[in-house]
Amino acid sequence: MNARAAAVRAAREPRAKSEYGEPLMSGYPATRLRRLRRTPVLRDLVRETVLRVDDLIMPLFVCPGQGVMRPIAAMPGQFQFSVDRLVEHVQGWAAGGLKAFLLFGIPSTKDAAGSEAYAESGIVQEALRALRRAGVTACLITDVCLCEYTDHGHCGVVRRGPSGALSVDNDASVQLLARAAVSHAQAGADMVAPSDMMDGRVGAIRAALDEAGFDEIGILAYAAKFASAMYGPFREAAGSAPQFGDRRGYQMDWANGREAIREVALDVAEGADIVMVKPALGYGDIIRAVRERWDLPIAAYNVSGEYSMIKAAAARGWLDERAAVEETLTGLRRAGADLIVTYWAADVARWLAGGN
Ligand code: PBG
Ligand code: ZN
Repeated sequence: MNARAAAVRAAREPRAKSEYGEPLMSGYPATRLRRLRRTPVLRDLVRETVLRVDDLIMPLFVCPGQGVMRPIAAMPGQFQFSVDRLVEHVQGWAAGGLKAFLLFGIPSTKDAAGSEAYAESGIVQEALRALRRAGVTACLITDVCLCEYTDHGHCGVVRRGPSGALSVDNDASVQLLARAAVSHAQAGADMVAPSDMMDGRVGAIRAALDEAGFDEIGILAYAAKFASAMYGPFREAAGSAPQFGDRRGYQMDWANGREAIREVALDVAEGADIVMVKPALGYGDIIRAVRERWDLPIAAYNVSGEYSMIKAAAARGWLDERAAVEETLTGLRRAGADLIVTYWAADVARWLAGGN
């Protein structure tokens, strides 16, 4: 026997036994992982993680006016829609298989208390009623926050803090957020999604919904939401950039993983039905940690900056958009996300249905 054949035979010798007593192959050459990658059919057969249209949530921006479909420059392919155009588009996407939408409002007026966020005639409330009147049965989720509605652009009401600096008043803001959530439920929302990061808002919203008779309306909590640079394009889309300071006094420091677990624990205890991690792409470790610890559904928000980066590179021919999107979204599912909020939801729905 020559040396090579001896080496091959030696490598095949069982060296260890499994817990059932069977010999364990020692690896190559008996084991060749490429065997199951040889053909597309084999690859399909052993694929562990898949994207499904049922798991996607499409964010949408609704603005005042009639016949408006205004492109968002920093987010190519995304628009601000007036209520009439929104209804048409949602009907089209729902017919194409999309099942859930997340609504953001751009109000006609802003003030210090963000009153259009909880006005009965607010833009999101109008959109909800119009969608339901048009017979839309898709899951309608509403973003609950004040930043699109306040003139200062913060996610709550502002007051002078202990050291004289302006800061967001937690408990006063929570009261207003709960009002906004109830008004969304009254107008036809299936679920509300608080994105403000005030302490105690999930519990306050749950109590307010129950008291108003909306015990069947769910809460998708932006539980671990980090103060990210990746929200930049969204603030153009929603006109919600803070007019002074930043959001680091309420959104999380992106360096903190353990603190994210505490945030999720509180939201679960306060009655969240689904918890969300946001942003998504740099946060797979958080998604995984939440998955290992809790059994409720987890959503990941593939945010505006994550969208715009791939769009910009694809527009220059630097990468293949569809391949990059399928890879990154599947990566979120692999990390442990059940649901994905993504601006590509309509595209993915079309791709999964065989379109391009
Ligand atoms: C509002 C809100 C933001 C996003 C969702 N809800 C912006 C922010 O917190 O500044 C970001 C979404 C995105 O970037 O796609 N609180
Ligand atoms: Zn906000």
